[in-house]
Amino acid sequence: MLYPSTEKDTGVLKKNIPVTKPFLPPKEEYLEYLSKIWDRNWLTNNGPNVKDLEKKLEKHLDIQNLLFLTNGTIAIQIAIKALELKGEVITTPFSYVATTSSLVWENCTPVFVDIDPGTFNVNPELIEKAITKNTTAILATHVFGNPCDVEAIQDIANRNGLKVIYDAAHCFGVNYKGMSLLEYGDISTLSFHATKLFHTVEGGAVVTANKELQAKMLYLRNFGHDGPERFANLGVNGKNSEFHAAMGLCNLKYIDDIKAKRKEQYQTYLELLQDSNLKFQQIRNETDYNFSYFPVVFESENILFKVIEKLGEMGIKPRRYFYPSLAKLPYVEKNYDLPVADKTSKSVLCLPLYHKLELEDIELICRIIKQNT
Ligand SMILES: Cc1ncc(COP(=O)(O)O)c(C=O)c1O
Repeated sequence: MLYPSTEKDTGVLKKNIPVTKPFLPPKEEYLEYLSKIWDRNWLTNNGPNVKDLEKKLEKHLDIQNLLFLTNGTIAIQIAIKALELKGEVITTPFSYVATTSSLVWENCTPVFVDIDPGTFNVNPELIEKAITKNTTAILATHVFGNPCDVEAIQDIANRNGLKVIYDAAHCFGVNYKGMSLLEYGDISTLSFHATKLFHTVEGGAVVTANKELQAKMLYLRNFGHDGPERFANLGVNGKNSEFHAAMGLCNLKYIDDIKAKRKEQYQTYLELLQDSNLKFQQIRNETDYNFSYFPVVFESENILFKVIEKLGEMGIKPRRYFYPSLAKLPYVEKNYDLPVADKTSKSVLCLPLYHKLELEDIELICRIIKQNT
């Protein structure tokens, strides 16, 4: 069988299908923004594009108080600083490394609890058991945009005087129980990295319903400046540029189309793999999902390796999100026994999902998977 090729080594014409490809708007639309940036000669420091993007994102997501930042990692760090967290923070072992590294970077001790095998999110019952007198907060990830058990987590936080940060890097446009998922917890953090559903090349944001926290984070993102010669408090450089905001403004116009396409692709995968041995992430009820990832769970790591190899032979490159378990990072000193997270991180693979992925490519991917599981 012949496929359009970019590489040829094993005699089989290969495809070139990565796990994701960034969406790019029509070049002319971005160039128009560039031309205005040139006219204004205002490149960064809270320029008109940044302000416009923040307003448009708040409207689109139906939230208040979004601050556009350089990336999703600095967003977590600014959230930790704003809440003045110290000591132990209970968190998930199944997320991207930035969730844990940000805690360690901010001198907090990550305390890992196991996850739920169906939702891949942190298990609230185990959070409760892990609380000590040194615990100050919970940092949970809505994995692949699937809402955590936000009610149980808030209840635990309220009863124990803990703060809650949600790493909502994957949650652009997800609503839960009729409101934005970003409204839950004290602060939610977003990533607008090029690989994300909505992107600004590099970028991120913090979202909070609390006006005081918002004001504090405004200083934190701009060196603590309160005017050119006064400083309100410690700060960092978390500002993003006019060029990045311009990419966001262009991409935002296409977001409904991007989401509709992803939904169709996601549902095609689900349908075609329905009669396979694979398991799928259980999206919480009452979620208006964004179809940002398509993770599948294999029966064993060996089967996963075999599928990676067979897909690779055709130039298809799925990705192991998230491996290894974050509790095994070299800078985590304690040994944890987290059987669900260990098993999940060894057996989950995210299949290709991006705007230009063709349905026939999804059919091919599903065929190869079914032949090898
Ligand atoms: C769950 C999660 N948290 C944090 C980040 C960090 O975001 P960024 O790459 O924008 O720093 C990412 C993505 O890269 C992520 O997937």
